[in-house]
Amino acid sequence: MSVLACEQLTRSYGQGEAKVTALHAITINIEAGQFVVFTGPSGSGKSTLLHLLGGLDAPTAGRVLVEGKDLYAMPEKHRSVFRRQTFGFVFQSFNLVPVLTAEENILMPLLLDGRKVDRGWLDKLAHMLGIADRMTHLPGQLSGGQQQRVAIARALINRPRIVFADEPTGNLDTATGNEVLALLKQSVAELGNTLVMITHDPAIAAQAERRIRVVDGRLAEEVIR
Ligand SMILES: Nc1ncnc2c1ncn2[C@@H]1O[C@H](COP(=O)(O)OP(=O)(O)O)[C@@H](O)[C@H]1O
Ligand SMILES: [Mg+2]
Repeated sequence: MSVLACEQLTRSYGQGEAKVTALHAITINIEAGQFVVFTGPSGSGKSTLLHLLGGLDAPTAGRVLVEGKDLYAMPEKHRSVFRRQTFGFVFQSFNLVPVLTAEENILMPLLLDGRKVDRGWLDKLAHMLGIADRMTHLPGQLSGGQQQRVAIARALINRPRIVFADEPTGNLDTATGNEVLALLKQSVAELGNTLVMITHDPAIAAQAERRIRVVDGRLAEEVIR
């Protein structure tokens, strides 16, 4: 069984003359443990697709199945909890809370659900990502690469089965981006997670087991290694 699937997934914005269809009836099956990359031109619907797969939006038509469960058939409140327990998210712009320390940012997903902090797991993530000595810093006191490592730790703190990343190296220079990507891949591999990533970088896309190109809201091409 696929860990993540969508069937005839469609998303439109606006009404009448102003209607834009960002995704046209997309169907995909993703196997557990795969590293899958979406590529394609700007405005082709990649972020819309990732948000829908991650339970952050609502489809106009079609379904998203996570381990066989229909994500958008759940009540909103149930979906939020399910999302935090099943998915981790890494975005291009880090999305850290500026007034919270690195550690507080990392623990945020747990605190939102009133779950207990596993100090051992936090320490392991901090060491794995090389930020153990940055835990009391505010995001503004960290470099871009360090901020993104904090964001990766936050994405992994709930031991998610699926990690979504939308251009995670897009705001980093090449060397830092490669370092962060290697850490993300290594963490995900070590934890046996599925990694679904959007990237513009052909060198990153080449590392994926499966590469899906999106053009004008449709799947245009697929490469499987
Ligand atoms: N909230 C929104 N409201 C209206 N149109 C949107 C919205 N989000 C995305 N779109 C449109 O949907 C299309 C796909 O956007 P997006 O998924 O962000 O593409 P990508 O991530 O590939 O650059 C674009 O035409 C974009 O303008
Ligand atoms: Mg995008």
